[in-house]
This record gives sequence, structure tokens and C-alpha cells, in this order.
Amino acid sequence: MHRIISSLIAGIALAILLFSGCKKDDCPSDCDLSLYNPTPYNIVRPQGFAEMVIPSDNPMTVEGIALGRKLFYEKRLSGNNTMSCATCHVQAQFSFTDKGTKFSTGIDGIQGNRNAMALINLGWGHKFFWDGRAATLEMQALGPVPNPIELHESWTNAVAKLKADTAYPRLFLQAFGICEIDSLHAAMAIAQFERTMISGNSKFDKFTRGEVALTPSEQNGFSLFNRDKTDLLSGGDCFHCHGGQGGLFTSNNFHNNGLDSLFTDLGLEVVTGDINDRGKFKSPTLRNIELTAPYMHDGRFATLEDVIEHYNAGGKPSATIDPNMKNLGVGLELSASEKTDLVNFLKTLTDMDYVNNQEFADPE
Ligand code: HEC
Ligand code: HEC
Repeated sequence: MHRIISSLIAGIALAILLFSGCKKDDCPSDCDLSLYNPTPYNIVRPQGFAEMVIPSDNPMTVEGIALGRKLFYEKRLSGNNTMSCATCHVQAQFSFTDKGTKFSTGIDGIQGNRNAMALINLGWGHKFFWDGRAATLEMQALGPVPNPIELHESWTNAVAKLKADTAYPRLFLQAFGICEIDSLHAAMAIAQFERTMISGNSKFDKFTRGEVALTPSEQNGFSLFNRDKTDLLSGGDCFHCHGGQGGLFTSNNFHNNGLDSLFTDLGLEVVTGDINDRGKFKSPTLRNIELTAPYMHDGRFATLEDVIEHYNAGGKPSATIDPNMKNLGVGLELSASEKTDLVNFLKTLTDMDYVNNQEFADPE
């Protein structure tokens, strides 16, 4: 009787082993390195954009991008399998921001104190987050998983979930030629996907390519954007910090644009420890700005009109205010129609092809 039972158990165990196949990472036959034959991917950059510098240790491949896209939408990266990067960075309508909310809520219902940033043309960025604390996209992508107010999951657990999946071990093998999934390669794949997220087909882009004309109001807004206020001419002075250089509409730098005199969030100073960096924040891209309300690192302004009013008022004084906020106390003194023109120009930066591009959508 005993022998029958034990051989039955052995039989069942064998059957489980056979039917489960060789999918576990400890099964050597599963890691067939001949499957690693990645297809190089070339970034197609919009006209007028600078060349994107790709880190030599993370070259772009079709397989890496596909894996990164899947991970961007992967809810198992969170502690309770309910949230992914895309929960706070919503493509459709919001250009990868958090559905018009001021602050994002993580899996435990806890809110942060910063507004989710739009993810656009990140491949041309240098430092990431409002305070620039991540030097590369790869470093940035490692952050949200263990962050207690975001996905709140250890990378050890997240990696274990990916290893147990039927698809991921092979996808990592095909993208990177590795038999063991790890967090670093997950972040590398996400960074590859993010580098493909390029916006360059707004009305303004079509205008620069000579395909469409701007309305007189948009045209005047464009002039104001690119002009300093002088005794003779009104100007918005926006280009200093949101210059169109390489089509990016950001200086890719950190400035204090006069939001406060006393700072509850120290911004760049949190990272550098330098008091001269107090209240400096990343100058964000203005692309798709129409879709990414509310505005500023703390989402304090609900509308673009509110933002223009802030600059028009000249900003609040402090020791670190940017020299380009040079109309302190007086402001830009724009007329009502000039303010409207500026807003109308900003709306020409909306790129619906970007928010509707299926290449960036959930692959499931
Ligand atoms: C709970 C909401 C939430 C989740 C989940 C989330 N983010 Fe974010 N993301 C934010 C917020 C808020 C910021 C700004 C935080 C700061 O500056 O401190 C941000 C900033 C970023 C930035 C910086 C952009 C720039 O221009 O500097 C990138 C890139 C980014 N997130 C990518 C990701 C990726 C990739 C994931 C998934 C691994 C992810 N995010 C998950 C809310 C979220
Ligand atoms: C001195 C540099 C500087 C100048 C000049 C400047 N900005 Fe900004 N801008 C910034 C910085 C820095 C931020 C982010 C500040 C923060 O959140 O603390 C910002 C934020 C914004 C935002 C909100 C972006 C978002 O994603 O939330 C808009 C819109 C904007 N600026 C438009 C303009 C316009 C229009 C002008 C000209 C009238 C202008 N800026 C002039 C530096 C500048």
C-alpha cells in the first residue's frame, strides 16, 4: 500500500515537472543563448532636433523597447499588483501625466507633494525629476518601484514575479542575452522605451516645416515668447528657460521662477545641499502643455491663464530668483490680448499624434 502511494506521489511529481515544462530560470535548457539575436533600432528624430545621445551600455533594440513598453504597463511591479508606471503617467488625453490631479496617489493611498511630470522627448534630457535627482533614465526607472508613496514593492519581489511569469524570462533573454532577470535590466528596458517617446508633430512643428500657417494670434504669441520686454516692445521672456533649442522647449536646466519667497519644497537644494539652489526646479518642456494641467512642481496653477498671470505679475523675490525673472515687482505688463496670444501659441505645441500613438500604448 505504502509503495503504491509513494509511486503515485512520484508519478504526480514527475507529471507536474513534465507539464510545467522547462520555464523556471533554474532550468538550464531554458536559457538558450541562440535566442539572443537583437534587432538594432534607430531613432528617427524630428526635423530640427539634435541627435539623441544613447548610452553606449544600453543600445536601442526592438526587443529592448518592446520589453520596456510591457514593463511600463506592468502592474506586478507594484506591491499589490494594482498600479504601474502608466497609472500615474496616462498617455491618452494627458500626455503621460496623472489625469489632471495635483498629486499622485500611490498603492497605499498616500499622496506625494509633487505633480507627475509629462513624459515627452526624455531622450534629450540630462537630469530627471523636478529636482534632478536621477542622472539618467535608467536611474530614474529604478525609483518608482521601491518608492513607498508610489509602487511600494521591493525590486527583489518584483523580479521574483517577473521570473515566475511565462513570458518575461524569454523576453529578457531576447533583449539582453541574460538568463537571470534583474532590476537593472528592467530599468534599461524601460529607458529604451522612453527614448522612443518622441513628440515632433504639433501644429508648431508643422509650421516650422512650412506645412501650415499660424493664426495672427498664435504668431504674435510666438513673438512674445521669444522676445525680452524692452522700453519699446512688450515681451514674455519665456525663451530663456523654455527655449525651443532642438525643438525641446526646455532649457534642460534648473531655475527659480519666482513662485515663492519662502520654500516648503527646496527643489534642487534637496539634491545638491547647496543653499544657492534653493527653490530651483527643472524647467519642464512646454510641449503638450495644454494637456498636462495642473501646472508647476506642486500643481498650484489650474490653467495656462493662471501661469501667464504668474509671469505677468513678475514673480516673488528671493535670494535665488533667476536673473531672467527680471521684471520683479513690475511684471511683464502684457495686455489682455497679448496674454491670450501667448496661451494660443502654447496650444500650438499640442501633438495629438503623440498621445494617440499606438506604439506607446499598453501592448496588452
Ligand atoms: C504614484 C504615481 C507615479 C508612478 C507609479 C510613477 N510615477 Fe513617474 N513621476 C511621478 C511624479 C509625482 C514625478 C515627479 C516626482 C519628483 O519630481 O519628485 C514623476 C517623474 C517621473 C519622471 C521624470 C521626468 C522628467 O522630465 O524629469 C520619469 C521619467 C518618470 N516619472 C517615469 C516613471 C516610470 C518609468 C515609472 C514606472 C517604473 C513611474 N514613473 C511611475 C509619479 C509617478
Ligand atoms: C527663469 C526661467 C523661466 C522663465 C523666464 C519662464 N519659465 Fe516657465 N518655468 C520655469 C521653471 C523652473 C518652471 C517649473 C517651476 C516649478 O514648478 O517650480 C516653469 C514652469 C512653467 C510652466 C508649467 C509647466 C508644467 O509642466 O507644470 C509653464 C506653462 C511655463 N513655465 C510657461 C512659461 C511661459 C509662457 C513663460 C514666459 C511668459 C515662462 N514660462 C518663463 C522657468 C521659467
